Amino acid sequence: MRLLSSSLWAALSLTALLAGCRGQESDQPPVHLNPNMDSQPRYDSQAESKFFEDRRTMRFPVEGTVAKGNFLENDVYATGKDGDQYVAKMPVPITESMLKRGQQQYNIYCTPCHDATGSGMGLVVTRGGYPQATNLNEAYSRTMPDGQIYGAIAYGIRNMPSYAAQIPVEDRWAVVAYVRALQFSQNASIQDVPADKRGGMPVEAAK
Ligand code: HEC
Repeated sequence: MRLLSSSLWAALSLTALLAGCRGQESDQPPVHLNPNMDSQPRYDSQAESKFFEDRRTMRFPVEGTVAKGNFLENDVYATGKDGDQYVAKMPVPITESMLKRGQQQYNIYCTPCHDATGSGMGLVVTRGGYPQATNLNEAYSRTMPDGQIYGAIAYGIRNMPSYAAQIPVEDRWAVVAYVRALQFSQNASIQDVPADKRGGMPVEAAK
């Protein structure tokens, strides 16, 4: 009797176990005794909403919403303009790390057209047939207000598209600072190099 009942149990549990792996797929969610908010209703993006009057699942942000960290109090910093005039000098102090960042961003975004030296003869111009980009080393560019360089990046100018989507405000000023350094480097003389950094180059010969 004892033997019989234990083999019966063994057979029963084996059947139950095998029944559990029938290999059939099911659309039904598994039995979940304590759901604990594990599954909740959700919408797919672009799906129709039965809750909102306009039937849109994707909601617009509340008017005037600004993404965290994107609130710019200082108008000059955000626009490069004071009123409707471009500011002559950039509104943030220049640091070495900023110049390095500006150089990196310039080399990525501006060299295709303006060339690494700023000549305006980048590959897109010489090979791609793109309209001549402004030579950043000519007097016109060297004497333009800092805000105008910022403006070219932020808003684009005639044939140059805006780079606002690629280059955030902080980096735009870094690029402006780097363009100034580039202009200086392309128009510098040996006198501008500190004596101990001239590598023995005689001042006369370098002229
Ligand atoms: C797709 C090519 C292209 C790229 C990339 C480009 N530029 Fe330009 N840029 C131009 C062209 C073309 C002009 C001349 C626009 C005109 O006068 O029609 C120009 C003009 C300018 C000017 C003169 C603005 C003025 O007020 O006359 C500045 C400054 C300038 N670019 C800076 C930059 C900087 C900084 C970058 C990188 C963030 C950049 N550009 C990237 C094509 C480009």
